[in-house]
Amino acid sequence: MTEYLERTFVALKPDAIQRGITGQIIHRLERAGMRLVAMKMIKADDELLKEHYSEHVDKDFYEGLKNFMQEGPVVAMVWEGVNAVPNVRKIVGETAPREARPGTIRGDFAHMSFSHADEKGQAVKNLIHASGEKKEAMEEIALWFDDDEIKDYTRTDKEHVR
Ligand code: CMP
Repeated sequence: MTEYLERTFVALKPDAIQRGITGQIIHRLERAGMRLVAMKMIKADDELLKEHYSEHVDKDFYEGLKNFMQEGPVVAMVWEGVNAVPNVRKIVGETAPREARPGTIRGDFAHMSFSHADEKGQAVKNLIHASGEKKEAMEEIALWFDDDEIKDYTRTDKEHVR
């Protein structure tokens, strides 16, 4: 991989699966030319969530976040591309759907604010998680996937998109 070609971790949250929009979300990452190199559907247990959200475990909204993430299965994925970490975050949009621009996944499919979620005592239902930084991406990929679950193949449009 070159300096700019990198991998990022993405999880479609239970609301995305329950709403039946996994395909539409995956399509947005695929059409940008990113390469899907790993994918699985899993129910996240307490331990996995505690590790994944280690920076949030002490926050007031953590209980709501844990309940939300355990409402159903999540679809965990690894995407690869040029500057994949910031590029996927750009396609995903701001954390609070209320702030996310139209054209982003959260801006097009959701509209909830932090205040509303806090008032209801639940996490912001924002459809998708994507790593924030390259180091975080590598840690999250290692947490959610074994090496042999990451696959190699050639996208036929490779010469055009990377
Ligand atoms: P995510 O990108 O997965 O990272 C942490 C998650 O916690 C975030 O998306 C939201 O779902 C949730 N979250 C972050 N801040 C708040 C908040 N102030 N109130 C409710 N939920 C939050």
